[in-house]
Amino acid sequence: EKGGYPHFMLKEIYEQPKALKDTLSPRINENNEIILDDIKLTKEDLEKINKVVIVACGTAYHAGLVGRYAIEKFARIPVEVDVASEFRYRDPFVDDKTLFIAVSQSGETADTLAALREAKEKGARIMAVTNVVGSRISREADDVFYTWAGPEIAVASTKAYTTQLMAMYLIALNMGIKKGTVTKEKYDEVLTELKALPEKVETLLENIENIQKLADQQFHNENVFYIGRGIDDHVGREGSLKLKEISYIHSEAIAAGELKHGTIALIEEGTLVVALATHDYLYDKMLSNMKEVKARGAYVIGVAQEGNQEIEKSADAVIYIPNTMDELSPILSVIPLQLFAYYIAVARGADVDKPKNLAKSVTVE
Ligand code: M6R
Repeated sequence: EKGGYPHFMLKEIYEQPKALKDTLSPRINENNEIILDDIKLTKEDLEKINKVVIVACGTAYHAGLVGRYAIEKFARIPVEVDVASEFRYRDPFVDDKTLFIAVSQSGETADTLAALREAKEKGARIMAVTNVVGSRISREADDVFYTWAGPEIAVASTKAYTTQLMAMYLIALNMGIKKGTVTKEKYDEVLTELKALPEKVETLLENIENIQKLADQQFHNENVFYIGRGIDDHVGREGSLKLKEISYIHSEAIAAGELKHGTIALIEEGTLVVALATHDYLYDKMLSNMKEVKARGAYVIGVAQEGNQEIEKSADAVIYIPNTMDELSPILSVIPLQLFAYYIAVARGADVDKPKNLAKSVTVE
């Protein structure tokens, strides 16, 4: 049932090109239009919406952070993102002009469901992004986007996350074209690149020796930091969570610009720092953050788009991802982080698919 792979997690990492294709292809027609069958939100409905609230837990929350970026960028609607277990307790501003998006692989997470009900009660329009047809969250929503990732067995979420990202981009682009906030030219450009991503993930997955080697060198660390700016920061959080949950190494992800406001105090000789620098417009700022930690003795693994060799001066090792539009880099940059966490957990002899203290679906609040 593991299809020849030693763990479900590795199998699911390798299923990502197919999962991404399955999530994208059925939604694009021959005229390059995005067709979202289970989303009834019309242009008129959309005109009424003055705010989007995305709520989720864990990995799905990290997908929500990228969702905020995509919706604000392409649809120009202000977006808030909250962890589901916090959302209800701050008397949130939600009304009938709010679009509430619940992101949940299982569609059964108790906190996410409770937040959804709260938003519904306040009159919000409810959209679900979920991987399970007929799940509770899908049934209680007005609109549903199904990620077609297929069953995810490993507790650590991988293919659900990348397909959630795909969902967020498609939802954002679809809103943008309906609202007229994205030009046809930009829309076509993004869609063309989204279609190219499954193959780029495939390429990444064919060249993993470097990542495996780094994991074998670094698995003794007891403290790892992930830094990035913008959506790189959001991906860093996901990489950090992956590492924590399956390898039991303490890890923290922070926005790179925040380093000097506290966390840099923890950097010493040999501290491992994974630095994501996949964006042109933040590249120089990231390089200087990397130099700051390197100067204090950190071992820095950089993640950058191919061709950006400049990073080698600020890092001890570099993982390159295929070139893509800055906006879409999370779908590629998370792959090496998933693999890095996986190989570290394997090197430490951990039970990768069933980490201690964790359940696949958290159905209690
Ligand atoms: O099924 P859901 O997407 O609602 O689950 C949310 C989290 O429990 C889940 O993403 C969790 O953080 C994973 N173990 C992360 O790998």
